[in-house]
Amino acid sequence: MSDKKTLFSAVQPSGIPTIGNYVGAINNFVKLQDEYNCIYSIADLHCLTVRQDPASLRKATQELLALYIACGVDPEKCIMFVQSHVPQHAELTWILNTMTYPGELNRMTQFKDKSRSHADNVNMGLMDYPVLMASDILLYNTAVVPVGADQKQHIELTRDLAIRFNGRYSDTFVVPEPIFPKHGAKIMSLADPTKKMSKSDENVNAFVSMYDDTDTVIRKFKRAVTDSDTKIYFDPENKPGISNLLTIYSVFSGVSVEDAVKEFEGKGYGDFKIKVGEAVAEGLKPISEKRNSLLKDKAYLDSIMLKGAESAYKIARKTLSKVYRKVGLYSPER
Ligand code: TRP
Repeated sequence: MSDKKTLFSAVQPSGIPTIGNYVGAINNFVKLQDEYNCIYSIADLHCLTVRQDPASLRKATQELLALYIACGVDPEKCIMFVQSHVPQHAELTWILNTMTYPGELNRMTQFKDKSRSHADNVNMGLMDYPVLMASDILLYNTAVVPVGADQKQHIELTRDLAIRFNGRYSDTFVVPEPIFPKHGAKIMSLADPTKKMSKSDENVNAFVSMYDDTDTVIRKFKRAVTDSDTKIYFDPENKPGISNLLTIYSVFSGVSVEDAVKEFEGKGYGDFKIKVGEAVAEGLKPISEKRNSLLKDKAYLDSIMLKGAESAYKIARKTLSKVYRKVGLYSPER
């Protein structure tokens, strides 16, 4: 391995990813892959904390790998793997569970939110979600984790657990730092721009999926909620809808927000929305083409998955055996 710092991130294979997942995560994965030693996981075990249809989960797992590659994550440069293929994630979770306090987990914002939205299925896994995430990160001597604002608390817990373990048993884990990528803007709902864009939104017009076709994309942007003013400028506080569209346009067209504001000076909202829709549709087209052709080659996708799991396993195994030894688990001589 090189002397680059290790970066770890993951996306859950639940539902169809939106352009919010792309802008907030996958697009950055591509941008970061030369600067860091990148490990990108598909967090299927995390998905199980809410009810899943088994066949859909299996399919979404393959599709997410195809999407990573279609977006430009390079399997020659990065390790891409499925979380459940490396058993150490669940094993380290057990050890870390013995040093995590219930109070640390039940005050987590995401746990509280999900307990409300999945009130009929508040399970131990949902509460333990952040500890599994800490295990993901700590197994790989991760130095940096690119995160959106909604995952910040989980990274703080990861750091606390690493420090706690190191304090109790001597230096073992690298204490990771969160990084907030420059282009990692949060994409808001098209129907209510004060809310984060979510693939689980009941209103399909609130999000643009990575798999929407050109007509659908443009139609959704035409309907995007804005405001009653007529001027186009960036002001997330007072003009959340227009600012969100400017952010999306900037990411997909490669033009800065400032230049986009100049470009649309004096133009109406209607024209602007169509232009944003066109830029997104154009950006998505090559990605869907690549993804569709990858999905036809299951053998190739499986080979990437297996190779990723092997590489990840080698690192994870070393870390976990160190942990087992430090906490006093006995291992017989071979
Ligand atoms: N919880 C993250 C999310 O929903 C996904 C995730 C799982 C993750 N394990 C991780 C992100 C480790 C960063 C590092 O966005």
